[in-house]
Amino acid sequence: MSLLQVKEVNHSYDSKKLFKWKEPLNKVLSNISFSIEEGTCLGLLGTSGAGKSTLGKVILGIQRPQQGQVLFQGYDIYNSDKHTQRKLRRDLQVVFQDSYSSVNPRMTAERIISEPLENYEKLSISEKRRKVISLLERVGLSEKDLKKYPHQFSGGQLQRINIARAISLKPKLIVLDESVSSLDMVTQRLILDLLRELKDDFGLSYLFITHDIKAAFSISDSLGVLEKGELIEFYHSKDHFFSSENPVVKQMRNSILVEHPRFRHFRPRSGVTNKESCQNI
Ligand SMILES: Nc1ncnc2c1ncn2[C@@H]1O[C@H](COP(=O)(O)OP(=O)(O)O)[C@@H](O)[C@H]1O
Ligand SMILES: [Mg+2]
Repeated sequence: MSLLQVKEVNHSYDSKKLFKWKEPLNKVLSNISFSIEEGTCLGLLGTSGAGKSTLGKVILGIQRPQQGQVLFQGYDIYNSDKHTQRKLRRDLQVVFQDSYSSVNPRMTAERIISEPLENYEKLSISEKRRKVISLLERVGLSEKDLKKYPHQFSGGQLQRINIARAISLKPKLIVLDESVSSLDMVTQRLILDLLRELKDDFGLSYLFITHDIKAAFSISDSLGVLEKGELIEFYHSKDHFFSSENPVVKQMRNSILVEHPRFRHFRPRSGVTNKESCQNI
């Protein structure tokens, strides 16, 4: 059984206008079906406005689609009892693009990371602190960051804190919605390295939502291309992206090949571990 199954999902947002019936229906997702296997990363590529974030929200259980089903670990996330929904929420986490607006500016790193633990686990104060310290270290930060506030971190460091919070409950699936898109190239590479390491260490699965083909390539196992709300391509092996004859995919491919003529030879960096190289980013 697949970890996540999305079945024939359709969604349009309600028009806010008074004369709704005069508005053409804004269909954002059309008949979307795909699945994600345990321990794998699906990259979801698409241009701005393609419907990627809406699909992410549908999967996270925060945007009920007008039609279709989302099955997570075999349970329909919109039609299961409260107890199951609570368990599913624990196993399904998210990291958004904007690291600063994802956190409460008045909370210390310790409080930000321990929030999910407080909701789901009964730990003593010292157990909780030990756990938060080990999470900080796991994402390349340290105990001395415990009492810092969001404004005292760089964007990359704060994204590490968001990642620490997302992995604190050992979830099964993390939705990464443009999570590295606003970071500079070097920081982006380090965060991608970290995400790959965590995926392997914890057996995590990711839905990696992005408009960035290189980022998608460096982390994904399978790839989907969303265009105007339709999943126009789905490759079980990401390499098929390069042989696709689909005109939209060709256009995407051309845009990066023009920008980076040597991209054909692009491979994820190996060798230096994330922990070794991330301390000052
Ligand atoms: N809450 C909302 N209400 C109405 N329209 C929305 C809402 N969120 C997104 N949209 C519209 O849905 C379309 C897809 O948006 P989104 O899912 O954010 O795309 P992407 O993440 O691929 O850029 C856009 O046309 C956007 O304006
Ligand atoms: Mg988006």
